[in-house]
Amino acid sequence: MRPIPITTREERERELSRAGYNPFNIQADKVSIDFMSDSGTGALSIDQQAWAQRADERYAGAESFYRFRDSVADLVPYPHILPVHQGRAGERILFGALLKSGQISVSNTHFDTTRANVELLGCQALDLPCPQAADLDSDDPFKGDIDLEALERLLTGYAGGRVGQILMTITNNGGGGQPVSMANLRAVSELARRHGVPFMLDAARFAENAWLVTRREEGYENWTPREVARAAFELADGCVASLKKDGLSHVGGFIGLHDTELATRCEAHVIAGEGFRTYGGMTGHTMETLAQGLREVVEPSYLADREREAAFLAEQAHSAGVDTVRPSGLHAIYLNAGRLLPHLRPGDFPGHALGCQLYLEGGIRAVELGSLYLGGLDDDHALVSPAPYELVRLAIPRRVYDHSHLEYVGDVLASIAKEPERVPGYRITHAPELLRHFHLRLEPA
Ligand code: F0G
Repeated sequence: MRPIPITTREERERELSRAGYNPFNIQADKVSIDFMSDSGTGALSIDQQAWAQRADERYAGAESFYRFRDSVADLVPYPHILPVHQGRAGERILFGALLKSGQISVSNTHFDTTRANVELLGCQALDLPCPQAADLDSDDPFKGDIDLEALERLLTGYAGGRVGQILMTITNNGGGGQPVSMANLRAVSELARRHGVPFMLDAARFAENAWLVTRREEGYENWTPREVARAAFELADGCVASLKKDGLSHVGGFIGLHDTELATRCEAHVIAGEGFRTYGGMTGHTMETLAQGLREVVEPSYLADREREAAFLAEQAHSAGVDTVRPSGLHAIYLNAGRLLPHLRPGDFPGHALGCQLYLEGGIRAVELGSLYLGGLDDDHALVSPAPYELVRLAIPRRVYDHSHLEYVGDVLASIAKEPERVPGYRITHAPELLRHFHLRLEPA
């Protein structure tokens, strides 16, 4: 617990200007409500803290590792479980062992670090989201699915031999936080086997995906989230998971694999780059919080509360007159900034403009998901190819905010939506090549 920082408008103006109008550069003690990420930002339960007190920090074979491994093994069917310090370390190690330069990694949508880890190996990261995902307003239940026809065309087409993995991101973070259906995972699994291509899960939000399956997919109404999660893992050959989300921890991750030979190759890289195979860069303290967090995260009461929280925040936005990507998922809501700010062109970065306005007016921090992040820029940093949407993601930390905080966000949104034409566009003044959104500097246009 810590007090929420309350700042004045002048302080926020100064801080945003100092930050080069990039929320990643804002100091957290100048943020009142922080929706930048749901990753590593949740609160630990008393049971997690109690277990953490018993952490065993011995170098090899610590008890904490075995408790962590047993908790993971209750959820995943893979015989090989390799600890890593967070998701992207697992991606680097798994993809490095699995992919060869020139190959294709195909996904419903790669998350940004996932894409970077594929591309750094000289491979292509190809996204094939299902056609329903393009309609932000429809209430289709599984807009996180992959386009199965396009996937089959790819696998049977001239580039089919180059596909090195199929990676399904559950839930689909880059695609509006939408879930993936079991039917879609099953069909991907069959295609992968028929074409001899490894099928991996990016399982960062496996429990939230499982919950939405029990809520939305016919035939799963009476399953527990744990049963659905396990059935999803059973369809794949392996997984890489950031545990900073559904591990209910501040850090951590793992790679899970069936294939012994692939696991042996990965393990060498875990030891060389992360730490010994019984901690992989995590402390005993972290492994204890994870062992307990992985039990709590599949509890229906916890997941139902998370769903209500996201729905409540979406309602706040709607009653303020701000549209969101529908239906709302669990880890975030995505505001449709392009629609709210029609006076701004994509090159004025409306998503970013709304993000900055949320900070200026209410000390709320959120991140753009639109042309600033995904669009193509020319040498003078002007936008030449816009993203399909101009969104702002409000990612909800786990077990941190209550309804009064979310109502406050609704009030701030309403005050912006009352006179949206007051919101200025932005111009980029500095944009590096690699991972540009972390380093961008901008100014009001
Ligand atoms: N995969 C997905 C789907 C993610 O959302 C993330 C992180 C990662 C992999 C990488 O995991 O952070 O443990 O290295 N997402 C965070 C976010 C950063 O804010 O969405 P990591």
